[in-house]
Amino acid sequence: MSKALDGVRILDFTHVQSGPTCTQLLGWFGADVIKVERPGVGDITRGQLRDIPKVDSLYFTMLNHNKRSITLDTKNPKGKDVLEGLIKACDVLVENFGPGVLDRMGFSWTKIQALNPRLIVASIKGFGPGPYEDCKVYENVAQCAGGAASTTGFEEGPPVVTGAQIGDSGSGLHLALGIVTALFQRTSTGRGQRVSVSMQDGVLNLCRVKLRDQQRMAHGPMKEYPQFGEGKPFGEAVPRAGNASGGGQPGWILKCKGYEHDHNAYIYFITQAPVWTKICDVIDKPEWKTDPNFATPEARLDKLTFIFDTIEGWTKTKTKFEVMAICNPLDIPCGPILSMKELAEEPALRATGTVVEVDHPERGAYLTVGNPIKMSDSKTEVTRSPLLGEHTDEILSDVLKYDAKEIAAIHDSGALAPPLRQAAE
Ligand code: COA
Repeated sequence: MSKALDGVRILDFTHVQSGPTCTQLLGWFGADVIKVERPGVGDITRGQLRDIPKVDSLYFTMLNHNKRSITLDTKNPKGKDVLEGLIKACDVLVENFGPGVLDRMGFSWTKIQALNPRLIVASIKGFGPGPYEDCKVYENVAQCAGGAASTTGFEEGPPVVTGAQIGDSGSGLHLALGIVTALFQRTSTGRGQRVSVSMQDGVLNLCRVKLRDQQRMAHGPMKEYPQFGEGKPFGEAVPRAGNASGGGQPGWILKCKGYEHDHNAYIYFITQAPVWTKICDVIDKPEWKTDPNFATPEARLDKLTFIFDTIEGWTKTKTKFEVMAICNPLDIPCGPILSMKELAEEPALRATGTVVEVDHPERGAYLTVGNPIKMSDSKTEVTRSPLLGEHTDEILSDVLKYDAKEIAAIHDSGALAPPLRQAAE
């Protein structure tokens, strides 16, 4: 079967998480992704959080499937020649270096355009133009600067970061959309363009409901926030809302049977208005169906804590899966708190390719998250991440058309890594 991005060649200058997330997606859609790595070192994540000595970490392998690896010293004159060749041969250059790195390497936008006017240059930086544009940024810096941390956690506690990598993987997703959109525009203009995503912007985009709330505050208290029902005043900025739903249907995380010893024996329970009467029956509070203090969504808003405490009195008598089994047929929206262990073992996720087992020549079999975007005409096959420099000679020969003598000369120049494992060791 063909792939959506067959024929698209990506010069992948990315490292760590944000950029690799983007190029991995493009690889899953069929692009030929050529990952350029520093000789002898490679992407720093190859060696970070290692679980097996001298073997590429899961951090690296799980972000770099469906790619080829070439090692190249882009500060070496011969290395620069090779890079120029790759710029001419590719459709997209993706990078998430620190600010100014590409320019310092000698590859400004003007120079790149002169080499290949059709090339799309896609970048992730921590911040866009402004006071912090020169800052280096990692995941949690973006979560804090993009509004996620100030709105996550409980009002009486400190700001909290989330385990979902919305700064890194979120930015990678945003960038991938920018790239395919630029590829589409190129079909009519014939020109490349710059595509930029700042991690702060990406996080703020994902937090837009909180900017919504910031403006709502000028028109009275936000009644769905727990502090409204608890009679606590609002300050000047959007407060942390604990486990409140953030939408028009109130929700909360409730304890289930076994919560005393299982940290994930909880369920997210939504008191969706259309099924309120069914909820009343399930929790054995039929009188709430007609009691004017509980019968309408507006009447319930100042009693949400009490209502959820009462519902919890029922959920605590059931496991999270029993709650699901009772509520789902009644269309009561709820979701179990699933642990990573449970997700890894879930057969349905294996069946759809969302969790995939991949074989690696050095580490053996491991689990990874496959492509969450399913396409009927472009099926994803997850292939293992490349070893450092595994495809150096192959790329010089099949992409840049160098012959054996020329490849040997480039090796002699010191611009390339020693082959395969020798480099990583
Ligand atoms: N050959 C030679 N040199 C190379 C090279 C290659 N193949 N690949 C990279 N380098 C050099 C760069 O030229 C740069 O050198 P310089 O500083 O002398 O110009 C150097 O490696 C370091 O690059 P940098 O990207 O700044 O790495 P870092 O480890 O210092 O910082 C980040 C890491 C992630 C903080 C930074 O890259 C960054 O802020 N990126 C943008 C935001 C982002 O994506 N953050 C999330 C990462 S998950």
